[in-house]
Amino acid sequence: MTAASEFPSGFLWGVATASYQVEGAVTEGGRGPSIWDTFSHTPGRTHNGANGDLAVDHYHRYAEDVGLMAELGINAYRFSISWSRILPEGTGRVNDAGIDFYRRLCKELLAAGITPVTTLYHWDLPQALQDRGGWLNRESADWFAEYAGITKEGLGDLIKVWATLNEPWCSAFLGHSSGEHAPGVTNPGQSFVAAHHLLLAHHAAIGAMRSTNPHADDQLGIVLNLIPAWPASDSAEDVFAAASVDATSNTLFTEAVFHGRYPEEVLGYFDRYEVSDLIDTAELSRAVEPIDFLGVNYYNVNHVQHAPGAPEMGSWPGSWEAQITRPPGRLTEMGWGVEPDGLLWMLERIGREHPGVPLYICENGAAYPDEVSPEGTIDDPDRIAYLEGHIEAVQKALERGVDIRGYFVWSLLDNFEWALGYDKRFGIVWVDLETMERTIKASGHWYRNFIADRVAARI
Ligand code: GCO
Repeated sequence: MTAASEFPSGFLWGVATASYQVEGAVTEGGRGPSIWDTFSHTPGRTHNGANGDLAVDHYHRYAEDVGLMAELGINAYRFSISWSRILPEGTGRVNDAGIDFYRRLCKELLAAGITPVTTLYHWDLPQALQDRGGWLNRESADWFAEYAGITKEGLGDLIKVWATLNEPWCSAFLGHSSGEHAPGVTNPGQSFVAAHHLLLAHHAAIGAMRSTNPHADDQLGIVLNLIPAWPASDSAEDVFAAASVDATSNTLFTEAVFHGRYPEEVLGYFDRYEVSDLIDTAELSRAVEPIDFLGVNYYNVNHVQHAPGAPEMGSWPGSWEAQITRPPGRLTEMGWGVEPDGLLWMLERIGREHPGVPLYICENGAAYPDEVSPEGTIDDPDRIAYLEGHIEAVQKALERGVDIRGYFVWSLLDNFEWALGYDKRFGIVWVDLETMERTIKASGHWYRNFIADRVAARI
């Protein structure tokens, strides 16, 4: 497919992970507990009671893992920082051992010619802050800004690309409405309050990072999971239902990030749940900080159908008599469709609605039921096809003028897939969960070959 020259020079070809999903070592190096420790150790919350105590032991094996990245030939690695490694109680006392771990990781990456790209919050709020109300407490924005400034101070010489939050939709709605994720609250009204505080926290953290340990080449942004909500048919009812899901999935976050405001639909949801008094929209508009990039995570499309009388969907509170229908074609192990056109559509939409902001695809990938062959190889043609199709969509978006600067596969390693435990494997590297041995899957070899002649220029 694409010739090397069709991707901009300096394009980042990477892989992504997240702290709680890979690190393990939850009681080592002075780390304090997070809401995911509590949640995963609560009976019935995760598949087979799985937890991240050991995860895939990246905390101890980070040097080996950077070696794997070098073997794959990537030029960027997106990881997240565990807040409770830096600040075990969430605020106040700084744990130098935590900063030191990420310094060692970054130095290892830089020595291998790999650009570190980091996310401050991939869902692992310090438990001590949850005990003070977590994201439902307005002070959470200040706590997060404190953490952002301290981390930028400690790591800003090594890391230039910083995202505040990963997928605040998940933190707000899976965490506080459907309750599938930590902290497991099931209160749709409160989930909007959490979303609002997360967005205030994002802006406050950008401000704190911009004024702390600044470097001319700093790039500060946020990562959103933007899920196209396409109507299942042309009927006015389906179109309306899809728009109501789009508001909670997408425009709530993009409008608040870029303009410090909420879409009309979302203001209506605040009223419906009687939380308007708890959400100070004027404060949001005053808080807005511009960003240098937007990270887009993309997996699939939601096809939305009008469903009179359907119970409200926990993950999309406020949506109007809507349900998500089965996507066309074969599904991944997550039950998600494979629709690269959705990625192209979303990239063009963002390029049109929010011009002038560089984009990174910060996550894209698929879980499939991989197996190790008697020869010890892992042949995963479905994952290769998934990646190939989506990278083609990125290429098309570039051709149509969307400013895209990088692409990260989710994930480097098989890892802890949250409430679904370890059965869902997203890695391009297989992990033997008994021995922790790593083996590059066929998709990893494919990715290496694909990017081999495309990474010559480094930023
Ligand atoms: C995500 C998550 C990852 C998941 C992946 C697959 O940001 O959604 O960052 O943690 O593992 O999306 O579900």
